[in-house]
Amino acid sequence: MDANPTYHGIELDAETALALLEWQAEMGVDEPILDAPLDRFDLAARPKPATATAKPPLPPPLQARAPESSPPQSTDDAGARLAEAEALAAGAGTLAALAAAQEAFDGIELKKGARNFCFADGDPGARVMILGEAPGDEEDRQGRPFVGRAGQLLDRMFAAIGLSRTAVDAAQALYVVNVLTWRPPGNRDPSPDEILVSMPFVRRHVELAAPDLIVLMGNIPCQAALGRRGILRLRGQWVEAFGRPALPMTHPAYLLRNPAAKREAWADLLSLSATLEGLSV
Ligand code: URA
Repeated sequence: MDANPTYHGIELDAETALALLEWQAEMGVDEPILDAPLDRFDLAARPKPATATAKPPLPPPLQARAPESSPPQSTDDAGARLAEAEALAAGAGTLAALAAAQEAFDGIELKKGARNFCFADGDPGARVMILGEAPGDEEDRQGRPFVGRAGQLLDRMFAAIGLSRTAVDAAQALYVVNVLTWRPPGNRDPSPDEILVSMPFVRRHVELAAPDLIVLMGNIPCQAALGRRGILRLRGQWVEAFGRPALPMTHPAYLLRNPAAKREAWADLLSLSATLEGLSV
């Protein structure tokens, strides 16, 4: 007879396993992945854990899983990884060199679980840079930021004020990047550690692209650039980020879930357009 399935090393009877699976499907889980990337090379070398006989905890199990399944990196080596990221970013004299250095950097565990490196899209000479959060599933497949549903809405929003990442003229162009270049599994929020080691690359990216204005698209870029969250309070208020004028805006993924918030997003787009015009006179 086949062995019973296990969950975090605990043996489950078929009924509990099915209930767990149904509960996860209801919560929107659509991919069999973990919170943290699984290093299968390391796993093969480890001795098998002893099977516990205790009954599994009842759902909701995903709420309790974070500390157990996400020891991505100990913070003791965070300083060394940050120093390495800073040296690599500082040594990159062009965007191509920066992309190569960031892609080669191994100080971020997400790299092991991602399919593709998502550096940027659009025109690096654009006056407006959009700084998003992190690649999602579609971005991970294509290796380009903002190409899923949220990205399509983003394109429509900016087209409404005459800006596009495919524009030939830099005056109408957009440059789109994310705080993270590797997809966090299950689209979870990037951890503080992942943001920390990505920031030297983001700062250098802004320096090299030298946009006139930056849009901080959602909470994660606000956290990364301003050290503040609370996008619903921050949105629409011009701030300074990376030494440049920056406008926090609600993320298009939020607008897809809350269409009523599009009104305020439209006001923010008009503010962006007026500021761009003001800067060009
Ligand atoms: N959301 C983001 O912030 N960036 C992407 O690239 C896709 C979705």
